[in-house]
Amino acid sequence: MNVLLFHPKVETLEMIRFCLESEIGLVVYAASTFQEAIDLFMDETTIDLIVCGEHPSTDKVFKYLLSTESQIPVIFLNEDSKEEIESYPDIKVIGHLRMGEMSAKLVPMIRSQFDAILSSSAGSEYCRISTSLLVRVVPLRGDIFIRLSSVKFVKLFKTGAQFTNEDLEKFLMRRKISFLYIKKSESQEFVQKFHSDLSSLVESAVPGNSELLDTVTEVHELVQDLSSRLGFNEEVRSLAKLNVKLAVKAIGSSPKLSKALSQSKLTTKNYISSHSLLIANIACSIAAQMKWPSDTTFQKLVTAALFHDFLIQDPEHAKIGTKKDLEAFKATVTPEQYNLVKTHPIQCAAVIETLTEIPADVGTIVSQHHERPDGEGFPKGLRGQQISPLSSVFIVAQDILDHITLCKGNFDLFNFLQATKPIYQNGTFLKIWKTLANQNFTSDESEDPTKSVA
Ligand SMILES: [Fe+2]
Ligand SMILES: [Fe+2]
Repeated sequence: MNVLLFHPKVETLEMIRFCLESEIGLVVYAASTFQEAIDLFMDETTIDLIVCGEHPSTDKVFKYLLSTESQIPVIFLNEDSKEEIESYPDIKVIGHLRMGEMSAKLVPMIRSQFDAILSSSAGSEYCRISTSLLVRVVPLRGDIFIRLSSVKFVKLFKTGAQFTNEDLEKFLMRRKISFLYIKKSESQEFVQKFHSDLSSLVESAVPGNSELLDTVTEVHELVQDLSSRLGFNEEVRSLAKLNVKLAVKAIGSSPKLSKALSQSKLTTKNYISSHSLLIANIACSIAAQMKWPSDTTFQKLVTAALFHDFLIQDPEHAKIGTKKDLEAFKATVTPEQYNLVKTHPIQCAAVIETLTEIPADVGTIVSQHHERPDGEGFPKGLRGQQISPLSSVFIVAQDILDHITLCKGNFDLFNFLQATKPIYQNGTFLKIWKTLANQNFTSDESEDPTKSVA
């Protein structure tokens, strides 16, 4: 995706350019004068977006755009430009930010408006591989690349070269490059090698070794990425299933909620995969506390956790949790983005159906993961009693994670229980609430819930 940055100050241009190139891999053309901007248009460079700062020639650029009937969308970065914007009603303005908001809001604004272009144009010939996973499978019969922008890739290692732990240290730790790339056409060998490496890891993993959860997070990112580039084919599905096994082993047979909570540090960089794993860990700990600690229950919760937001790419979209959030979200995004968020529980459940040997309840958990005990969830607006027991465990795990995020690390289970008491009043939610609050149960309340999933 190509962006024209129009701003009179070269330093500002460089700062915004760096931010857009490094964070979302855009191709950025900078123009500090009217002539430079016009030269770009005359060059027939395809511009998908104009980011426009306060510039004495903004007027001229807009008159030029209007003369060519251009529909290129514009984001303004002006301190106070309401009047200026209103004097050009035919220019397609999609956002307005003050310079002070730029560093926090520009990238999320572009991501939310151009989600489809960003995901389809991000190096369609290449597959992204986590730098730390790459070290497991070299040498490869293909080259390894580094990405400079969405269309520019430079060869880093030639076919057959070793990518060593020293290289890993250099790229990941010192240069903070989390991903390297291989050609899509050469991905099959990588997937096969990686599959066999992961199989050995699953075999040798010590149950309850929570350090492995980081590997599971990385592998999940890989599965999601491979699936968007190559399709959710047999090889990718097989990796996904192995990863579920590794996660179940890493969580162990008697996970403790206190341990899961102490490990619950969300990373913003890979929010989708990291929150999926944290939900898996917390949900299994709740199930263990409910006295439902079977391997099958854990497998269901982990599979649901890994796939519940599988089709969502923007972390902000994954945070929409209620009907009310969804309504507010509708006004800020395209109809396609809104529909994906609204229907992702059902669509992600359909993805799970393509995995063989997965119990039907997993699809139920995924399709109900945004329902709420008070009926304020989506897509169906089910109420507590209509939500399956394992889905309820999953929803409580999500609520705990939201609460952890809200408390910025000062999570207190007592405060959580106080806050949720009015809403966890029915169905399995009440049982979970009581268990977490250490209340006594009658024996019929502690049956394995998997039997009663509709
Ligand atoms: Fe979701
Ligand atoms: Fe989620």
